[in-house]
Amino acid sequence: MPAAKAPDMFALAGAKARHAELAKEIARHDAAYYQQDAPVISDAEYDALRRELLALEAEHPELKNKASPSQKVGAAPVSAFGKVKHRVPMLSLDNAFGKEDFSEFTAQIRRFLNLSNDAIIEFFCEPKIDGLSFSARYEHGVLVQAATRGDGEIGEDITANFRTIKDVPERLEGSGWPDVMEVRGEVYIRKADFLKLNEQHAARGEKIFANPRNAAAGSLRQLDPAVTASRPLRAFFYALGYTTAHDLKTQLEMLQQFPEWGFPVDLSHDHRCLSDEEVMEFYDEMLRKRSSLDYEIDGLVVKVNSFEWQRRLGSSARAPRWAIAFKFPAEQVYTLLKNITIQVGRTGTLTPVAELEPVNVGGVMVARATLHNEDEIVRKDVRVGDRVMVQRAGDVIPQIVGVDVSQRPAGAAAYVFPDHCPECGSEAVREEGEVARRCTGGLVCPAQAVERIRHFVSRDALDIEGLGAKQVQFFWDEGLVRTPVDIFTLEERDRKLFDMVGTLPLSRREGWGSLSAQKLFAAIAARREVPLSRFIYALGIRHIGEVTARQLARHYGTGDAWLVAMQQLAGEKEASPAYAELVGLDGIADTVAMALVEFFHEAHNREVVDGLLQHVTLLPEEAIAGGGKLAGQTLVFTGTLASMSRAEAKAVAERLGAKVASSVSSSTTMLVAGEDAGSKAKKAAELGVKVINEAEWLEMAG
Ligand code: IVH
Repeated sequence: MPAAKAPDMFALAGAKARHAELAKEIARHDAAYYQQDAPVISDAEYDALRRELLALEAEHPELKNKASPSQKVGAAPVSAFGKVKHRVPMLSLDNAFGKEDFSEFTAQIRRFLNLSNDAIIEFFCEPKIDGLSFSARYEHGVLVQAATRGDGEIGEDITANFRTIKDVPERLEGSGWPDVMEVRGEVYIRKADFLKLNEQHAARGEKIFANPRNAAAGSLRQLDPAVTASRPLRAFFYALGYTTAHDLKTQLEMLQQFPEWGFPVDLSHDHRCLSDEEVMEFYDEMLRKRSSLDYEIDGLVVKVNSFEWQRRLGSSARAPRWAIAFKFPAEQVYTLLKNITIQVGRTGTLTPVAELEPVNVGGVMVARATLHNEDEIVRKDVRVGDRVMVQRAGDVIPQIVGVDVSQRPAGAAAYVFPDHCPECGSEAVREEGEVARRCTGGLVCPAQAVERIRHFVSRDALDIEGLGAKQVQFFWDEGLVRTPVDIFTLEERDRKLFDMVGTLPLSRREGWGSLSAQKLFAAIAARREVPLSRFIYALGIRHIGEVTARQLARHYGTGDAWLVAMQQLAGEKEASPAYAELVGLDGIADTVAMALVEFFHEAHNREVVDGLLQHVTLLPEEAIAGGGKLAGQTLVFTGTLASMSRAEAKAVAERLGAKVASSVSSSTTMLVAGEDAGSKAKKAAELGVKVINEAEWLEMAG
C-alpha cells in the first residue's frame, strides 16, 4: 500500500470532523421531521446541509459509511406498526374447489403416509371464517403480543388493538396451559354488526366498507386503539403456533380445551369425519346452512385430527399437507357488459377486461371483470351490450361466467380481438400453443415498460415507498424513469438540474415539493441493499413468483453465486452445467429454468441487471430456518424406504435444514439408499459421495 501523503491526511481529518458534525445535525432534523412531524428549519436550509455532506463524500469516498445520512431513510423506519417474526410460520391453505380436488387431497395423504385405501383417516372439519388471521402470544397465562399474518414469516404488531377485542382474554382462566403459547385464529365481524356499522358510517358521511372482512381488517389496523375498540370485532381461535410442552393430542381435544382457558371457539358446526363421504355430506349440510349463519364463511377447513399425523405430514413451502380449504362455490349475479377494453401486462400479454354496470356480488361492488383471453370470449360468445353473469370467489378477480343470450340486443356484434397492441401499435401475435396474444413491442411498448417498473418497485419486490402506480406513470411520462436503473440515478440527475438555469428540478415542481422528493429519494436510497430473493422476484421473469425466487436465492446463497450461474445460462443455455443444476433442484420446474435462460440470453435484460448492480448490493439469503442438524447438506433419496414414503423422507430432511435434490451430482453430500437402489448408488460411488442405508437415515432423522 502506498504511504499516504501528509497534507492529504490533514485535509481528510478536517473533512471527517465536518462530516460528523453534519451527520449529527441532519439526524436531528430527520427526527424532527419524520418522527415528531415538527421540522425546525426550512426545506432549503435542510437541503443545503445535505448537499454539503454529499459534496464531502464525493471528495472523500471513505467517509461514506453505512451510518451516513446519505445511506439511510430519514430516521428510524416510519412504519405505523412494528414487525413481528413468527417463530412458526403462519402458512396459507391449499384450496379444494370440488369433490375431486378433495379426494386428491386425501389420496395424497395416503401416499405420503404409506396408508392403505381402507385405513381410516380421522378428519376434523371447521367453518372457514372469512376474516383476518392473527397469532397471539401468551406467556405464563398473560397476553403479551399479537400479530397479523403479514407475509407468513413476518407480521405486524397489533397488540394494542387486539387487546380491545372483547372475545380476547387478557389473562387465561383454568390451568394447565403451556408456559409459552402462540394461539391462532380469525378476527371477524358478524353480518348484523357489519350492516349496523355501515349504517352508522353512512349517517356520519364516513367510509362504507365493501364487506365484513374488509371492515374487520380496516378496524384492526387502526393507529388509534380507541377506534378499534369502538368497532364490533370478534375472534375465534382454531390453532396453535409455537408452544412449550403440552399434552394436547388432537384438533378436537384442543378446541375442547380452548374455552376452558377463555378462548372462544365455534364447536357447534365442527365435525369429526371418518371418511371422504362423511366430509362431503357435512360440506353439503354447511353449504345449505351458510346463509343462516351469523358470520360469513367461504368454505370448510378440513384438518387431519391427530397432531402426531399433522407433524408427520408437515408442510410444503406455502401450505400444510394436513389441512385444506374446501371452498364453497362463488356467488354469482347478472349485470350489463358496457364495453370490452384491453390491458397490456408486464410481459406484453393482451388481457380483455369487461367494463360492467357496477353490481353487488356477495357484498362487494364489482365494475370490472377479467375475460382472460381471446378464446374465452369466443367460447362464451360474450358481446358488448350482453347481460353477463359475474362471479367472485374470495379474493380472486371477478370473472364472467356466461351470457344470457335471450336478452341480447338486436345487432350486437361478435367481438373482434385486436391484432395490434392498443398501447404502442406494434403487432400483437399469438404463438403456437399459447392462449395469450402478446404485443411484440418489447421495450418500445410503454405499457410493458411501465408495468415492469411497477412490478419492480411493488411491495413484494423492492418495496419502494412513495413510488406507486401513479408516480411510476408520472416519471415515465416525464421521461425521467424508463428502466428500473433510472430509479437509482433519479436523485443525482435531479441535483444536477438544480444547478441549471431554466430547468425545474423535481424537488421544485408543483405538487412535489422538496420534502416529498426528499422522502422518495430516501426511500430509494434505503433499497440500495436488498435480499437476493427480492431482487430476483423484482426482475419480473416469467414463471418466477415470490416462492420460486426465494427457493432460487436460498439455493445460490449469495448474489455472486447466482450471477455466475446466470452468466453461464446466458452463454451456453441448456448445455451449461448451471442449467443441469437448476433442473436437478427440487421444486424448480423446467419452465422456470427455460424462463431464466430466455431472460438472461437477452442482451437488454443483462444490461438492466448489470446497471442495477452498479447501485444495488445484494444481501445473501438466510439458510432455511437458520440451520437444523442437516444444514448445509444436499441429500438424494433412491430406492424404496420401508418406513416412510419418499415425500415424507424429503420433508423430514428439509425440516432438518438439508436441501434435497433428485439426481446425484458433485454437490450431493449424501445418498440415502433404500431397497433396490439402482443407478444413483452407482453414480454416488463413482463420485465418492457418502451412501447411507435406511437404518442410518432413521437414526439421523430421529
Ligand atoms: S387453520 C396452517 N382454520 O383461512 C393453516 N384457518 O386460506 C392454519 N381460516 O390463513 C389455518 N377459518 O386465516 C384455519 N377454521 C379455520 C379457519 C382458517 C378461516 C383462514 C385463515 C388462513 C386462511 C387460509
